[in-house]
This record gives sequence, structure tokens and C-alpha cells, in this order.
Amino acid sequence: MKTFDLPVLDNTAAAAALDEACDQVRINLPLYTDRCQNHSSVNNLYPACDNNQWTCGFWPGEVWLAYERTGEESFKQSALTLVDSFAYRIDHKIEVDHHDMGFLYSPSCVAAYKLVGSEKARDAAIKAADQLISRFQEKGQFIQAWGEMGAPENYRYIIDCLLNLPLLYWATETTGDNKYADIAHRHITTCLANSFRPDGSTYHTFFMNPDGTPSHGATCQGYKDDSFWARGQAWGVYGSVLSYRYTKNPEYLDTFRKALNFYLTRLPDDLVPYWDMIFTTGTEEPRDSSSAAIVACGLLEAAKYLPADEAAACDKLARQMMGSLVKNYAVHDHKPGAGQILHGTYSKKSPYNTCTPEGVDECTSWGDYFYMEALTRLTKDWQLYW
Ligand code: GLY
Repeated sequence: MKTFDLPVLDNTAAAAALDEACDQVRINLPLYTDRCQNHSSVNNLYPACDNNQWTCGFWPGEVWLAYERTGEESFKQSALTLVDSFAYRIDHKIEVDHHDMGFLYSPSCVAAYKLVGSEKARDAAIKAADQLISRFQEKGQFIQAWGEMGAPENYRYIIDCLLNLPLLYWATETTGDNKYADIAHRHITTCLANSFRPDGSTYHTFFMNPDGTPSHGATCQGYKDDSFWARGQAWGVYGSVLSYRYTKNPEYLDTFRKALNFYLTRLPDDLVPYWDMIFTTGTEEPRDSSSAAIVACGLLEAAKYLPADEAAACDKLARQMMGSLVKNYAVHDHKPGAGQILHGTYSKKSPYNTCTPEGVDECTSWGDYFYMEALTRLTKDWQLYW
């Protein structure tokens, strides 16, 4: 594994950074309790939004992490108000015709059930898991990411879905019904067969043929089809470990190693990648700080399962990445609507990709959440929301 000569974030510094992050969550509670937080900031301040984006689960995740850190009742009450909104959303099927049920319901409702035993949250999360498995395509054995089921332009899955699978493992654990984990297993088998290139880099999206055979990889948010979208790589790193956590299938740890090793070869000196890792040191392209936070979480999770020397290397790398984020990317100007880490990139338009440009060089709601998750992991033996 490639190593770097950068300072590590020790536990005391991690705790101090987490406390500062909790201060920002406290300041933001009045803005995003009856409404949700937008996917990304605008000029580094988040607008409020309705509960209709794929990203709305990350803010409640931050609130639950702040509750865990402080025990403050106001965090719990705010997060439970958000649970009501998530229960309403799944009951009324508001913008749930896509695969992002795990991103939405793990940090909001699974967290609420695990932390305070909310049955309403458990019920909502199980309904979200049912919604997710309803998108499974037998022909090709994958969970269709977006759009009308079976539509040829959308007959594909995306690497990001690895983070939606833990909702299915959890649903099997909590209900005793294996149908959820079975679909997770079938989806990840397809994903591992197609989405990871031989060098460990990843395709963002992968199209299947109507007869179920693999067609081709393509990008939506990366620079071009055969480039290395940083966040897709980060989802591959963390997502493969999360599936290992639930299944103990050694193939998933090997995938983690492969994806991580590629990621490490494309990092600039401060370990925070450019938004697509086709860009390296010397470019003017923006970073994606969220990828660094996601990978740090993956490293800290993987360290639980790896042999001691590899685990120590992962722990050190995570602390170096988090040290860089805390030192150079964390928000210190704490005003209402501010985020946790600057310089994330949601979707940057390129001549070759198909995304809608938004959230370029801004805070991102998931970057903020995973930053707090990684800091939490460095302060205690954290019980996952995933
Ligand atoms: N899941 C979409 C993204 O990472 O931007």
C-alpha cells in the first residue's frame, strides 16, 4: 500500500474537530428541522429544501452524530421531527423512484431506530428497503439506479449503489426475511463483475443489455467514460467494506484493496482528490473533499477486519486524510447555513459527461456527514447507521 509523509490526526484533535462540527449542527438546527438541507451549498451556505432530494438523509445523520457526541435533547427532538418527514415521504412515495433509499433512510431512520428505538423509523426504513428491492432487474441481476423501470436509456446501475446495500442487510437482520440480503448479494455480484476495471479504477454507471448480459461502462458525473470519477472511486472503497462487514465474503475485502490502491496512486500531496482523478497535481480543476471523508470512513471500517499491519496502515492513512481535511478544508466561520468542509464537488459538467452542473467547489451534504462520521469513528467504537 502506498504511504505518505503527512501528519496524523490524533484522538484529541479528532474530538476537538468533532465538537466544532457539533457547534455548527447546533447553529443550523432552526434552519433544517421542519425543512431539509439542500444537496450542496451555494456560496458555501446551504439553502433549505423540501424532503425530495436523494441527499436529504445526510443532514439528519449529522444531527444524530451530534446527539451521540453531546447527548443534547434538542438534537434528538430535531432528528425525530425529521423522521416524521421521512416516514411521510416513503408513505406518500415522494421522489422515491430511484435506488438511493439507503442514502436516504440509513442515516435518518435506521440511525433513529438504533439510537432511540423509534418504531416509526424502523417501519419507514423497512418500507424504503421494500422500495429499493422493487427496482431489482432479474435480467442482468442488478438494482436499476434511475428512471422508469426497464427503459433502455436507464437499464443500468451505478457504483454509488454499494452504499444503498447496507439498508438491505439491515432489513434482513431486523425482519428475519432473507429476501433483502439476497438481492444485495445478487446486485454486488453483478457490480464486482463489471464496474471495477482491472487496474482497480471504476466506472460510474454500467449499462446492461435487455437479455441481461453486460453492455458497457459510462459516466454521468465523471469527466468522461473511461476516466476516474473521484467519488465513484470513494463509493467503491467504502461500499465494498460495508458489504464485507455484513457478509464476510473475502472477495469484497479484495475489492476494497484494489479500489483503494488505485485511489492512492492518483492523490495530490494533501490527499484530497480532484473531482475526477484523471486530474492530478498542477491542474486548476476543483477538488472533491467529500471523497476524502468517504474513503477515511472506509479505511477505518476496513481496519477492523484486516491483519494487524494492514489495519495499522489503513488507520494511519485515515488519520492523515482527516488531518488534511481538519487543517485545510474545515469550516471555521460558523454562521447559520454553513457546512462542515469546503471544496466539495457534486456535479461538474465536462464536454463528455451527461450531468447537470451543480455544487462545484462547494460544501456537500454527504461530505459534511462523512466528515463527522470519520471523526466520530476516531472518538469511540461507533455503531454504524449503515
Ligand atoms: N450519488 C451521487 C453522487 O455521489 O453525487
